[in-house]
Amino acid sequence: MDLFTLHFTKNEPLYQQLYHYIKINIEDGTLKPHEKLPSKRKLSDYLNLSQNTIQSAYNQLLDEGYLYSKERSGYYVEKIDWFMTPIEKKDISIETKKTKNYSYDFDFNSIDTSEFPKKEFAKAYKDAIDEVSLFETTGSPQGLYSLRESISRYLLSSRGVDTSPENIVISSGTEYLYDLLIRLLPKKTVYGIENPGYAKIGLLFRENKLSHVPVPIQDNGIEIEDLNENEIDCISISPSHQFPTGILYPISKRYELLKWATQKNSWIIEDDYDSEFRYSGKPIPALKGLDKSDRVIYLGSFSKSFSPALRISYLVLPDSLMLRYLDLAHFFVCPVPSLTQRVFQQFMDNGNFTKHLNKMRSLYGRKREHLISELLKTKFPLSFLGTEAGLHLHIRLHTEIKERILVEKALNNDCKVYGITDYYYNNMNPHKTAELLLGYGNLSEVQITEGVQKLKEAWKDCF
Ligand SMILES: Cc1ncc(COP(=O)(O)O)c(C=O)c1O
Repeated sequence: MDLFTLHFTKNEPLYQQLYHYIKINIEDGTLKPHEKLPSKRKLSDYLNLSQNTIQSAYNQLLDEGYLYSKERSGYYVEKIDWFMTPIEKKDISIETKKTKNYSYDFDFNSIDTSEFPKKEFAKAYKDAIDEVSLFETTGSPQGLYSLRESISRYLLSSRGVDTSPENIVISSGTEYLYDLLIRLLPKKTVYGIENPGYAKIGLLFRENKLSHVPVPIQDNGIEIEDLNENEIDCISISPSHQFPTGILYPISKRYELLKWATQKNSWIIEDDYDSEFRYSGKPIPALKGLDKSDRVIYLGSFSKSFSPALRISYLVLPDSLMLRYLDLAHFFVCPVPSLTQRVFQQFMDNGNFTKHLNKMRSLYGRKREHLISELLKTKFPLSFLGTEAGLHLHIRLHTEIKERILVEKALNNDCKVYGITDYYYNNMNPHKTAELLLGYGNLSEVQITEGVQKLKEAWKDCF
């Protein structure tokens, strides 16, 4: 009877608390198989509960097979072997992976939310919620037709891409878009990825056990020779603002690539991730806009231009791949909720998206200039490499000191900057130069000034 030292709470019916208590004691082996439980009368006196309460708890344990009863004898613990050898718990908590926060983080993936159009977005949500039909089904696997129409209008006016809503597939980010593409292209496809490049893409190919080859980035992007030598069937590039170097593929290289793809019947995946933010000269039209042979798969995202949290991105598929997609479409469900899609469609259609983009372009443009001028004031021996677009600067520091040491010194002074080596395939950087990426999207001008000051202190003995 010692066992039943139970403290009842007010939150749960008494019989359930008793049921849980006995169940746990059976599972952890405290109550042994075939052990007799106290009679209802004894337990009711001891715990000061009604016999009905005890009966209800025993009944539930009987129903679930934790107890068995013997006529005129009482209730006994069932023998349930597998409870006796609990599996060792693995630590899968995200807590353990938490990274350190730095007061000054030149992160190039985050955006400025100070100008987030809360009022307009809330209104678009309210209007969409009123449209209850959005909640009836999962919607088209390709995404809402009306959003695809808005995207096709936007692509024509801002990226020079003439496509129809029928060729657009909406999804939830790079992982989903590439997952989809991998299913559409033959399994034996040899993929090429830019080196340095967006690390996620190489990882996706590796995880899916697909042939892939890193292709070096030269001053004007990748070389066609490298594509031919490695018998690449599909090359993934970011020609309008190469990630991470910031290089712009010149028009001659764009035509060379299109010629290569047309002659070889190969594919080009064009990742146009942050093309909206170009600060000097005219916006560069997308490669897809020049593609007369339908060999370019265009990949667009609203992660930089609006919010990475919205998870809206899309593919523009060439007709032949679109037909393959339609064959498989019954397998797919668009991962972006129809409600979110409708909200963003309204946001695009009523001009709020363009207004927001224009505001953000000048805000990021000011931050970019401020960061450049603060870095110049330090007199660091540096050159700017990719500065004309996007939300980060790419700089080279002319020093013997290793990139890794410069990053570490900055981290030790509470300031995070990013070495370009991390974006080389397998972290194999063939160059000895120290090159860093400094994002400015999420830092205020004051934080930029203070962050650069931190770098100056951190690197005072380096130059
Ligand atoms: C090179 C590159 N491609 C694509 C994306 C878009 O990513 P996603 O649509 O998965 O948020 C990003 C991040 O903004 C990026 O840096």
